[in-house]
Amino acid sequence: MNIILLGPPGAGKGTQSAGLVARHGMKQLSTGDMLRAAVKAGTPVGLEAKAVMDRGELVSDDIVSALIDENLDAMAANEGAIFDGYPRTAAQASDLDRILAKHGRSLDHVIELEVNVDALVERITGRFSCANCGALYHDTANPPVKEGVCDVCGSTEFKRRPDDNEETVRTRMEEYRAKTAPILPGYETRGIVTRVDGMAPIDVVAGQIDAILT
Ligand code: AP5
Repeated sequence: MNIILLGPPGAGKGTQSAGLVARHGMKQLSTGDMLRAAVKAGTPVGLEAKAVMDRGELVSDDIVSALIDENLDAMAANEGAIFDGYPRTAAQASDLDRILAKHGRSLDHVIELEVNVDALVERITGRFSCANCGALYHDTANPPVKEGVCDVCGSTEFKRRPDDNEETVRTRMEEYRAKTAPILPGYETRGIVTRVDGMAPIDVVAGQIDAILT
């Protein structure tokens, strides 16, 4: 199974990907996570990407498509893939078709998380994650069960993303509207798009996604 989770910043792509990994043993391929790891490691890709990400703009198509290709290389043929935050432009969508064909794979579903854009700034500015295992939380919508302690690994260290500020979020939203939303009609023509209500509680969204996959 190869699926794309599509939606604007803060729609819940990362949250739902983590659930799919836990419930179905699929592999999450998040270009945002890959780029942040490259920035942290100080690789040439990371050095090039950092300023672009800090502005909320899109990193070059060649860089992110190469990351996806490399990660698929490392996966077993029968392992399901969740594309989280990729593709984001028409060029990336056509790169993905080529890369999937090269790996003997094809797209099964494009799942669009439909959200009220006005709620997203609040979602993103309230987001934090475990500094040890990366588990995602939100100040009010999804806090750890025990305050200050990660539900997953018990760490007491948390962090926030540098691009999760209101100004950068507005640029990220505009990039989504201008460059990413226009790739949906192409997938609709192929009959593989399903929409879910991304404003529902996290477990309800997860149930809607599971219903699509079964
Ligand atoms: P990336 O890391 O992909 O960020 P994004 O697309 O902006 O998406 P987010 O991670 O902000 O949101 P999400 O939808 O995953 O929401 P989440 O589940 O965390 O990209 C970052 C940057 O990297 C880009 O700006 C760009 O520069 C670069 N980049 C990455 N990929 C690229 C590509 N392909 N091409 C070019 N450049 C690329 O949820 C958000 C919060 O809401 C959390 O706190 C969560 O707990 C909460 N929440 C989630 N669901 C719900 C719910 N149903 N109800 C209430 N709260 C919820």
